[in-house]
Amino acid sequence: MYTSKIVGHSSYLPENILTNDDFSKFLDTSDEWIYSRTGIKQRHVSKVNTSVLCTNAANILLEKFNIDPLILDAIIVATSTPDYTIPSVSALVQGNIKASNAMAIDINSACSGFVFALSTADKYIKCGNYKNILVIGGEVTSKQLDYTDRTTSVLFGDGAGAILLQRTDDNTGIISEKLETHGDKHDFIVSGFTGVNNTLNKEDGYPYLSMKGRDVFNFVTRVVMKNIISTLENVNLTIDDIDFVVPHQANIRIIEVLARKLKCDPSKVFTNIDKVANTSAGSLPIILDEMFNNDSLTLGSKQNILLTAFGGGMSCGSLVITL
Ligand code: ACO
Repeated sequence: MYTSKIVGHSSYLPENILTNDDFSKFLDTSDEWIYSRTGIKQRHVSKVNTSVLCTNAANILLEKFNIDPLILDAIIVATSTPDYTIPSVSALVQGNIKASNAMAIDINSACSGFVFALSTADKYIKCGNYKNILVIGGEVTSKQLDYTDRTTSVLFGDGAGAILLQRTDDNTGIISEKLETHGDKHDFIVSGFTGVNNTLNKEDGYPYLSMKGRDVFNFVTRVVMKNIISTLENVNLTIDDIDFVVPHQANIRIIEVLARKLKCDPSKVFTNIDKVANTSAGSLPIILDEMFNNDSLTLGSKQNILLTAFGGGMSCGSLVITL
């Protein structure tokens, strides 16, 4: 049976940076409050839209790994902040990078989006018809933030990252996964409401992101913990068999609680939330690229990594991947 192997990686962060001190100039907040409760020091903020960040990440990967865009069979973009409702971000990227043999779809599972997208790409590859799939996670969450709301605006950053998955038969790739959706908790994180405003009804929309922070925190420590354990148990692994845990970068306190409950050596848990904040679906590919670039991870090394993410929906998912 075919499996899917990671053969390329990249990321792109917009150049403009907002520090915590920048926020304290226009909001009643401080570096001390933000850093001590979230681990965030700064975030990148984009002047351009999501498809541009995703295209930049894609082009960096193609150039770095010397990939002809015509070999791509599919492009899957995980995002909850698309430029348009129609066309999809993936269609825009496909056109921009001239990957004319690739079909393109978007996946919206908020901050869990990249895990859901990797899982989807893996299934396309396992069905046998697809060889090379570019999986991108990218967001411009800043366009959905109310910069007068200190409880949400300080938490997020913009950015994109990409992974190239390739068909293989060497038993590497995703060896276990568990994806979950808890729609009864959909009101924990809400963003971009569009009202029905037509000839029959006049309903206002509301673009901004709102979040029940405490409820999200509790959801993660209960539901995500079980999700991780079940993903490991599916393939008779324990946390000791994992070389690196790569968690969604939403809050350093959440990451520390998860690591403690998993009894995981802290040196196996990489974080970059201080530099990029919560980049939602961009979070995992951006941190993976950093880990490959600093030699924590090596392509083809047979290292086992655990990716875990959670977000709006509420959704969560974990993957064990052998590199
Ligand atoms: N600066 C200063 N004070 C603040 C700030 C801020 N930036 N934000 C909130 N406060 C204040 C509140 O107004 C409140 O003041 P009050 O007591 O006078 O009303 C006080 O701090 C405490 O607020 P809480 O919301 O209870 O603060 P908490 O300690 O829970 O921390 C936080 C908030 C950081 C959001 C935390 O709940 C958390 O991290 N939750 C998880 C959020 C998360 O992971 N979100 C990402 C989800 S992924 C996705 O899909 C989007």
